[in-house]
Amino acid sequence: MITSSETLYENVATKIESLIEQGVLQPGDKVPSVRKVSIDHGVSLTTAFQAYFLLENKGLIESKPRSGFYVKFSKSKLPPTPSIIFPEHSSNEVKIDEMVSRVFKEARNEKNISLAVASPHHSLLPVAQLNKAVTQSMRKGKGKELGYEMPPGNEDLRRLIAKRSFDWGGHLHHDDVMITFGCMEALNLCLRAVAKPGDTIAIESPTYYGILQSIESLGMKALEIATHHETGVDLDDLSKALEANKVAACLFVTNFNNPLGCCMPEENKKKLVRLLAEKEIPLIEDDLYGDLFQGKKRPVNAKAFDKKGLVLLCSSFSKSLAPGYRVGWVVPGRFKERIERLKFMTTVATSTINQMALAHFLENGSYDRHLRKIRTAFQNQINFTTQAIIKYFPAETKISRPQGGFVLWIELPSTINSFELNEKAVKQGVSIAPGLIFSTQNKYSNFIRISCGLPWSEKIEQAIKKVGDLLKQQIGKLN
Ligand SMILES: Cc1ncc(COP(=O)(O)O)c(C=O)c1O
Repeated sequence: MITSSETLYENVATKIESLIEQGVLQPGDKVPSVRKVSIDHGVSLTTAFQAYFLLENKGLIESKPRSGFYVKFSKSKLPPTPSIIFPEHSSNEVKIDEMVSRVFKEARNEKNISLAVASPHHSLLPVAQLNKAVTQSMRKGKGKELGYEMPPGNEDLRRLIAKRSFDWGGHLHHDDVMITFGCMEALNLCLRAVAKPGDTIAIESPTYYGILQSIESLGMKALEIATHHETGVDLDDLSKALEANKVAACLFVTNFNNPLGCCMPEENKKKLVRLLAEKEIPLIEDDLYGDLFQGKKRPVNAKAFDKKGLVLLCSSFSKSLAPGYRVGWVVPGRFKERIERLKFMTTVATSTINQMALAHFLENGSYDRHLRKIRTAFQNQINFTTQAIIKYFPAETKISRPQGGFVLWIELPSTINSFELNEKAVKQGVSIAPGLIFSTQNKYSNFIRISCGLPWSEKIEQAIKKVGDLLKQQIGKLN
């Protein structure tokens, strides 16, 4: 679909991209010459070239010397998606922290190429604009920036977050929003507000290991629910699990779950909110990746259908703007008072200057422009990474099709132990996230998550090749 905000060359590129996506033009096919594109679309040769350069940057076509452009990659020709696992409906103690710490100790080593950490590289972030926002905020603050900004936090920032809620079907007031130290603090406060040690939290399978660590640190239990690579939580599986277990809350990443990249359709979100409302079960909705959609528009949040104040929405600027600022927020619904008190009790307030700088950045309208850029960068990085995995990994490898965010979930041949694979890869200077850390049940031992947060380069391609070579060696040894 072509949108009105596209320039002429983007418009031409979109038309050719859709021919590639539909499989009309297949990998290896020569695409029409630049001259033909110029005549057919009534555009200049320069515009036709720009369209092809754009497609080349996306990894969809490649030029061959003195021959023209050829299709390199088509989403219509991808390996199968990873298997959907139906976990046991048991309420499990979580013991994941030791394994996670081991993996990330190595992943944080700057000498290694980290395909494990899901964080945007700083070259993709608006460094100069944010630096300017900090300086201007300090000048404007006249010392106020050194003081505490007590909960619920900076009013300008809360107002701007409330304004952005119109994009996902919310009509928030700034008093509905409380600022936190990243999404992680928001999630922890919500868990503490709605559940106590020993209680069970229903989560997606697989889910972000940080969610498991929070549940573990709070002495709560996890109940895993089957999650589809496209549509997210399986509502039938959830209903069955709720019949058989007493659940204190659900904690779901409804938009672009990490690691699957799936997005729950609007209809399912409505059903989910209705189902939980009937049972008076709170839903903690983690929307960290909602702005990083790959489709045409931002998905609606489950919070948009919340009539009872039972949905607690959590998010942050960590994946799109500034992970190190540690600024997130919670829309706590009916748990507002308790959450504000818990916040005050634990960390008193969130860093004042960081809130001021983000308010300044958002106020100037630069955020949407930046989001468009970073979404394109992530999409391109996902395309290139997918191509490299197809090229270097064993033929049986299965790969997810993230609809947003920037991670890939990969199923390897069943004999592979991805924890051991990571330990071997680290010795060669590359880290990956093994599947075992995304679940409490030993179901994902032959899965890995690869982050596409680093700009594509020859170095990244070589890192993926190293992992592929290790895999092939391991399979060779086993056969
Ligand atoms: C689903 C999900 N929630 C929360 C977080 C943590 O976010 P923050 O850095 O804002 O605390 C992450 C980080 O990777 C994540 O993937």
